[in-house]
Amino acid sequence: MTSTSLPDSLIATLPGSCYTDPEVFAQEQERIFETMWFCVARASELARPGAFRTVEVGRESILVTRSRDNAIRAFFNVCRHRGAKLRTEESGEVARAFQCPYHAWTYDLTGKLIAAPNLTKMPDVGRTEYGLVGVHVREWLGYVWVCLAEEPPSFEEQVIGAVVERLGDVEPIEHYDIDNLAVGKRIVYDVKANWKLIIENFMECYHCATIHPELTEVLPEFADGYAAQYYVGHGAEFGSDIQGFTVDGTEGLDRIPGVSPDQDRRYYAITVQPQVFINLVPDHVIFHRMYPVAADRTIVECDWLYLKDVVDSGKDVSRSVELFDRVNRQDFDACERCQPAMSSRLYAKGGVLVPSEHHIGAFHEWVQERLGAAPQPR
Ligand code: FES
Ligand code: FE
Repeated sequence: MTSTSLPDSLIATLPGSCYTDPEVFAQEQERIFETMWFCVARASELARPGAFRTVEVGRESILVTRSRDNAIRAFFNVCRHRGAKLRTEESGEVARAFQCPYHAWTYDLTGKLIAAPNLTKMPDVGRTEYGLVGVHVREWLGYVWVCLAEEPPSFEEQVIGAVVERLGDVEPIEHYDIDNLAVGKRIVYDVKANWKLIIENFMECYHCATIHPELTEVLPEFADGYAAQYYVGHGAEFGSDIQGFTVDGTEGLDRIPGVSPDQDRRYYAITVQPQVFINLVPDHVIFHRMYPVAADRTIVECDWLYLKDVVDSGKDVSRSVELFDRVNRQDFDACERCQPAMSSRLYAKGGVLVPSEHHIGAFHEWVQERLGAAPQPR
């Protein structure tokens, strides 16, 4: 039999039910995803007024678009008449307005109600009052972040603060000019695992030697199992015989000009809670967003960003994409391998974190704090 108390060098993970219980997931949606800044789209996806994207944020569908004044706006994707979803496609473009497919209430790109059958005969339906309900929007690093809370937390603290905590300052990330990079490749992964397993996996490198042969070849220090990426300002150095951050260690693409000499030939990984991971290497940036859709399912959208000239010229980015695509698949396979066991009786009280994973304990405390109380095993 296993003992219930752990030696001091080990600490417990969350109980298994935290990764499977729909009630815990509903609380996380309400208290984490619907109250914090949540990254929803690359601003360049909304290149022209009327381009839109729909995204699930917590339990809500959100419609993100660009209005004629060039501002990005986001609304609840809910018609104010009887609640029909205005758009069901993931992305698209409208000419000048969103028209509800049910009774044809029509909203301009700022959300104002501009037309409806018999609207002139319905004086009590105010055009602003019955406009679409907006949510808070910020743009940073060329991405659109929304917050569904009426009073959003400070973006500077939650989002920019996470980067500063990791890199020691905001300036090092500015060297990569992420706003102006172009998407060279996007891959969407449908992962049959709880979002927290994905974060926990991303936070540790104890698994790197076992499951990431290509990555540990490029970044030899990852083979020792320590998550070196979590020391402030530290970037993992490329192996001496490695030319670039590619699947076979051959040369990468054109280096981002602002990258400083101390950042060259190094890899930085940043977690921005609750759902963004950013990886920085000299010639590209890998930007992950997680969309948790169920206790046991998470969609992960991953962009590989390069200099515009690299993308426009059609240079072959496949060897650099392949490295992290393999890493992603290796990681997500591991998460999917753990998910079914979260409901095993053996995991009712959770597993253990070895010293090189202890910082994951801080993530668990954070989740528990957000939920207001430690979720108890059932
Ligand atoms: Fe949208 Fe009626 S529900 S117009
Ligand atoms: Fe990994």
